[in-house]
Amino acid sequence: MATALPDLDRDANSTLAEQIAGFYGCAIEEGRLRPGDRLPTIRMVAEHAEVTRATVQQGYRLLAERGLVSATVGRGTQVMAGGNGQRTAASPQAAAAWHQLQTLHQIPRLAEGIATLADFSAIVPDSSLFPVEEFQRSMSRVLSERGRELLVYGDPAGSAALRAFIAERDEPVGKQGQADQVLITSGAQQGIDLVLRVFTAPGDAVAVPIPTYQHFFGSLKSQGLDLIPVASGPEGIDLDDLRRVLSKSTVKLFYAMPTFHNPTGRSLDRAQRRELMDVVCQTNVPVLEDEFERDLRFKGEPMPFLRGMDPRGLTATVRSFSKGLFPGVRIGWVHASPEVIGPMAALKRFADLETSPLLQAGLLDFIESGAMANYLEKLRKTLRSRHALAQDCLRRHVPAAKATIPEGGFSFWLELPEGVDGDRCAELLSRRGVLVTPGRLFDPQDRPCAALRISVSRASVEQIRAGIEVLGRCVKEVQERGRTSQPPLFL
Ligand SMILES: Cc1ncc(COP(=O)(O)O)c(C=O)c1O
Repeated sequence: MATALPDLDRDANSTLAEQIAGFYGCAIEEGRLRPGDRLPTIRMVAEHAEVTRATVQQGYRLLAERGLVSATVGRGTQVMAGGNGQRTAASPQAAAAWHQLQTLHQIPRLAEGIATLADFSAIVPDSSLFPVEEFQRSMSRVLSERGRELLVYGDPAGSAALRAFIAERDEPVGKQGQADQVLITSGAQQGIDLVLRVFTAPGDAVAVPIPTYQHFFGSLKSQGLDLIPVASGPEGIDLDDLRRVLSKSTVKLFYAMPTFHNPTGRSLDRAQRRELMDVVCQTNVPVLEDEFERDLRFKGEPMPFLRGMDPRGLTATVRSFSKGLFPGVRIGWVHASPEVIGPMAALKRFADLETSPLLQAGLLDFIESGAMANYLEKLRKTLRSRHALAQDCLRRHVPAAKATIPEGGFSFWLELPEGVDGDRCAELLSRRGVLVTPGRLFDPQDRPCAALRISVSRASVEQIRAGIEVLGRCVKEVQERGRTSQPPLFL
């Protein structure tokens, strides 16, 4: 270790993570650690200081947020140029977003030389099922019929035809055809970014049920927003906790994912949505409703949108063609009241002018040709059978774990038997060719978590069978080693 960390003071007012950050921060500012120098690995510091890896990670994150270090896969955590006393080029928001991205890269990858047995890690559609030829026909058709019109700039709010089509089909407030309530975005992710921008300012806070979508943390950080967690579990969102959080004056938005939640796969039923909106509508806090996988329902009745239950008109619904079709076309939309769509279209204009008119036209042609409906029908059937097989294999190989049973979408949440840490399990699995996402990733505080997110979106029958068998063996191994003293979270 270039600079040895002294014993940490467990009775101090500062946390252990803050002490770690304080020590290395000083070393950087005093020039004892220089730009390009590597900090000791998280594992080394954890062992040396007898703390958890999560504590060290938290300490390193504090340093990154001060712009002193950056973490890169394969190169560890390095002192950044300009870190020792000089101002870094990146703003605090950019540095925090950058660090957040590095944290995401720390999820287990396949060890060198290990072939993939099953990849359950990403919620990305299976491209082998894509109707590429049908899409090619739509693209050639629109290019040959309207190429000159589609290859110039378009409207920042999106193609009028696509907006009208979406307004007709997607009617969260029961008023059909109101295209002025729809803004086309570059995926749901840009929808999230714009909704945050329109309702909040740097320093505000957003109420978020935890666990949640990991890229939401980066969206908040990139805009200098704070996150206030709201407790949630198998019974849905804890409404008492929500009431408490929404009463805070800094909270300017509530983020909800009522359908096929990422990462848990759970959906709120009609009564839960009603009760949730009863609480929210007693305040004037707007809602960001993320319906990113809504098209992927393979079981049960479609549930109403929260936006349709908000008489205040303060809910903005974010949707996307990424999961039900192609993430690579980067087309999504926001459904909100016209008073919000206008400023949001202005923000979008100054961010990226507009989403590609050519791709919007090709996509609409593809939908109107009936090709999307055919594809979606096949996709839903495939997902239903992959989920059913996975549940079956889990019962056989990991009977002590508890899985959510989603009614649609790509993934489910696996609560591991007591004492089995998700990180450890994911790490061991990656050495056996199986990739999963550890539950810790969905916690803004990055705490150890006894759960995994398992996605069946790209897994074949053979991969599900083989992968879950290996999962069963790994869970047993981690359990037998029984070294973790962490309490399971989110159970
Ligand atoms: C919950 C959630 N919201 C939004 C997105 C962003 O989707 P898009 O590809 O449409 O930008 C994702 C992507 O995985 C997601 O999981």
